[in-house]
Amino acid sequence: MSLCMQRKSIRRYEKTPVSDDMLESLLRSAMQAPSAVNQQPWRFVIIKNKDLLEKLSTVSKGAWPLKEAPIGILTVFKDDFKRKEMVPQDMAAATQNILLEATHQGLGAVWIGVYPRAERMDEIKSILNLENGEPFSLIALGHPAEDQTIKPRFDAQRIQVIE
Ligand SMILES: Cc1cc2nc3c(=O)[nH]c(=O)nc-3n(C[C@H](O)[C@H](O)[C@H](O)COP(=O)(O)O)c2cc1C
Repeated sequence: MSLCMQRKSIRRYEKTPVSDDMLESLLRSAMQAPSAVNQQPWRFVIIKNKDLLEKLSTVSKGAWPLKEAPIGILTVFKDDFKRKEMVPQDMAAATQNILLEATHQGLGAVWIGVYPRAERMDEIKSILNLENGEPFSLIALGHPAEDQTIKPRFDAQRIQVIE
């Protein structure tokens, strides 16, 4: 089965730490994402500090998985690029690559939506004292501690073929 068909959001994690090698693989995959004119507008902030993860877990209703996660990854963008209107798509591609690599490494992860909600972006900047760039997404991750069964969602009705 392909990685795409194995990935699902995992929101509960074992206490076991994520190794540096695994973390590096996640970041290598993130930086291998496609981006408009190959502009790579991303930076990645790795959060291992428990107090900070706990604070981040309240930036939105859906951010709670960060509370028990051994690691959080914040994706950050700069939009002073040639193709600035494409930056959110570049960032989404990098975020998805992290999720797919996490699946490949046997880790569990969930995408926590940040951009374009200004109040979440501002709160994250303030919690992390972020001076450069804008928060795009948060990813909570760790060794999975929940059921990983996939429910296929394929729906032929959503496909139109034009010949
Ligand atoms: C832009 C975006 C924002 C999301 N935000 C959250 C979130 O804040 N909290 C959360 O638990 N899941 C979040 N998710 C995960 C979705 O809930 C999840 O992908 C969806 O329910 C489908 O389930 P699956 O990922 O297991 O296939 C988000 C996903 C995306 C793409």
